[in-house]
Amino acid sequence: MTVPFEFGDRLTIPLIVAPMFLVSNPVMTIAACRAGVIGSYPAHSTRTREVFEEWLIETQDALAAAEAAGERPAPYAVNLVVHSSNTRMEGDLALVIKYKVPIVLTSKGAPDDVFKMIHDYGGVAFHDVASARHAEKAVEAGADALIAVAGGAGGHCGTINPFALVNEIKQVTDKPIILAGGLTNGQDLLAAEAMGACMAYMGTRFIATEESLAPEAYCAALIEGKATDIFLSAALDGAPANWYAPSLVQAGIDLDELAVTRPGKIVTSDGQSKQRYKGIWSAGHGIGATQSVVPVKALCEQLIDEYAAARQGLRKQLG
Ligand SMILES: Cc1cc2nc3c(=O)[nH]c(=O)nc-3n(C[C@H](O)[C@H](O)[C@H](O)COP(=O)(O)O)c2cc1C
Repeated sequence: MTVPFEFGDRLTIPLIVAPMFLVSNPVMTIAACRAGVIGSYPAHSTRTREVFEEWLIETQDALAAAEAAGERPAPYAVNLVVHSSNTRMEGDLALVIKYKVPIVLTSKGAPDDVFKMIHDYGGVAFHDVASARHAEKAVEAGADALIAVAGGAGGHCGTINPFALVNEIKQVTDKPIILAGGLTNGQDLLAAEAMGACMAYMGTRFIATEESLAPEAYCAALIEGKATDIFLSAALDGAPANWYAPSLVQAGIDLDELAVTRPGKIVTSDGQSKQRYKGIWSAGHGIGATQSVVPVKALCEQLIDEYAAARQGLRKQLG
């Protein structure tokens, strides 16, 4: 494992627990960091700037206490939507700077002054990309690494096969790549490294954890679901995203109609374009890996063991 950042030697495995709207929180993040895995949450998961500041304080205090007790936690990360459509961007960015958030996971636009402001306080910025063109723009703007969001990822996803996406990104830049989409175990992490990524993201795998904000029924769906239950649509909010199909049906959405609906046009049971639904759930193709609700620490330990076993197995396989 070679993670080309100063914090690299703090990681037990090359993994970031991905930021997930209304799922991630400080408790999850702290547990991951204390296990040597980068934890994260989106700034926009908090209702207000004040709550975001409380989350930052809670995270920093807990990690500082762990450090004082002799631990070497991984750094934490915050997801910031750096796009003009995000009305909270300026205020949230000010807090990111005030608290010197070590890793900022940026998504949507790629304004260069944002990256500069993050670099000025000593932070690093990893930017979400779904194509080589996105990667080029992010590198020009000053991103330190590219999160290659491939097809099959939970939430807003890419649509390109991970091999093809990583290969095309490597044609345009030699910046570090973090692979996202469908990874669920230690062997997948090693596979991502073999493809040329330096780290990977796991989102879906961490939804059904004791610390997450996901309600019980959502966790139960994760345990029940298989990859064939995941439905890709850009019709619900304008960008391609993977949804747990039974939750769409439960909300009265006609999947046949959704399949032929234009991006951003929300479909209701009576075919009208209406409000955003509550109770529809997102998950990626890796949904089938979830078998129970577990503490984040136990899941991280399992991944650490799997990664070590995968390395050993591969060594043996290669003779
Ligand atoms: C429920 C859910 C919510 C998400 N919310 C966000 C978000 O707020 N910001 C973001 O950058 N990515 C978000 N994502 C995407 C993840 O950060 C990550 O790219 C994805 O989970 C990786 O794919 P995987 O789920 O197959 O591991 C979300 C994903 C899920 C499943």
